[in-house]
Amino acid sequence: MRAIRLKAPAGIDNLTVGTADLAPLGANDLHVRLHASSLNYHDYIVVLGGIPTPDGRIPMSDGAGEVVAVGSDVTGFKPGDRVVSTFFPLWLAGEPTLEALAQVPGDRNDGYARDEVVAPATAFTHAPAGYSHAEAATLTCAGLTAWRALFVEGSLQPGETVLVQGTGGVSIFALQFAKACGATVIATSSSDAKLEKLKSLGADHLINYKQDEKWGVTARKLTGGRGVDHVVEIGGAGTLTQSITATRLRGNIALIGVLAGFAGNVPTAAAMAGNVRINGLTVGSREQQIAMIRAIEANGIKPVIDSTYPIEAIGDAFRLQASATHFGKICLEW
Ligand SMILES: NC(=O)c1ccc[n+]([C@@H]2O[C@H](COP(=O)([O-])OP(=O)(O)OC[C@H]3O[C@@H](n4cnc5c(N)ncnc54)[C@H](OP(=O)(O)O)[C@@H]3O)[C@@H](O)[C@H]2O)c1
Repeated sequence: MRAIRLKAPAGIDNLTVGTADLAPLGANDLHVRLHASSLNYHDYIVVLGGIPTPDGRIPMSDGAGEVVAVGSDVTGFKPGDRVVSTFFPLWLAGEPTLEALAQVPGDRNDGYARDEVVAPATAFTHAPAGYSHAEAATLTCAGLTAWRALFVEGSLQPGETVLVQGTGGVSIFALQFAKACGATVIATSSSDAKLEKLKSLGADHLINYKQDEKWGVTARKLTGGRGVDHVVEIGGAGTLTQSITATRLRGNIALIGVLAGFAGNVPTAAAMAGNVRINGLTVGSREQQIAMIRAIEANGIKPVIDSTYPIEAIGDAFRLQASATHFGKICLEW
């Protein structure tokens, strides 16, 4: 079968079309014909070699497709079912443990940029009804991260205010989930054109973070001085100061990303004085993915997909991601 492989030395130009063998179907396994994946910043860092992987690694954490066959002990799935992969195949439910976080497709294990896979049934959930494979493939990493930040860690309530940063996959899901819950959303972007698109998705307040360097002060003013209840922090070191400024007493900052720096100066005294809860998190469990998909179906939420590429053009897809001109998700479909 066909598989994309990341040859050494890592780099976008070293993504090559190769082959892979299909493992035999075990009693607890699914055989899935894969049809789509979606790009995450994490996959991009793997492809650039920022997360070292063995020569020939099959990239991509997200995979969606159709069940071809089920092992003899599998319940809950049947041939023809449309499924989507989980980010941590060993984290099924409950609190994260080091063991549960040990495997990540496309990083510590081979991923889903391939035609078919045989994997434990617990490494997949059903896809939302009515979703295309590409739409389903946006949920594994970006969708679930936004869901966990707001509802699992943040316990978001209707009427609260959520600040989302930029227009990448995680942030747009966070905007959509927050609006579905009845929250007020303050959204930032470097681009006025993208801000207009955020408005059409329901964002209540818009801030251009390139033009307004003190956007945290502006966000706080927009809440009448109280501060926002939740920040979905995808910038990291370079944005945390403004996020702390924006956040209300005892508010939540979900520390998710590092797009504005891996390390830096953080105003710890301000965070302490604000009794701010800064909560690092990595994606979520299978149980949380199932809960998210239930909510997606109940609310008719559809992911925002910027562009879709055939799997052979995976390099072009990563070049688009590198340009940061995209709005929402970039997908692969085959
Ligand atoms: N912890 C986890 O479990 C987890 C899961 C998923 C992702 N992440 C992390 O979250 C981050 C976002 O991931 P993604 O896949 O959504 O990325 P993405 O789709 O590539 O997002 C890119 C967008 O982020 C925005 N951005 C970049 N720098 C920014 C800044 N300084 N302030 C505000 N926005 C900024 C830009 O939006 P504009 O063009 O609108 O300015 C850019 O277009 C990455 O660091 C990724 O590693 C973490």
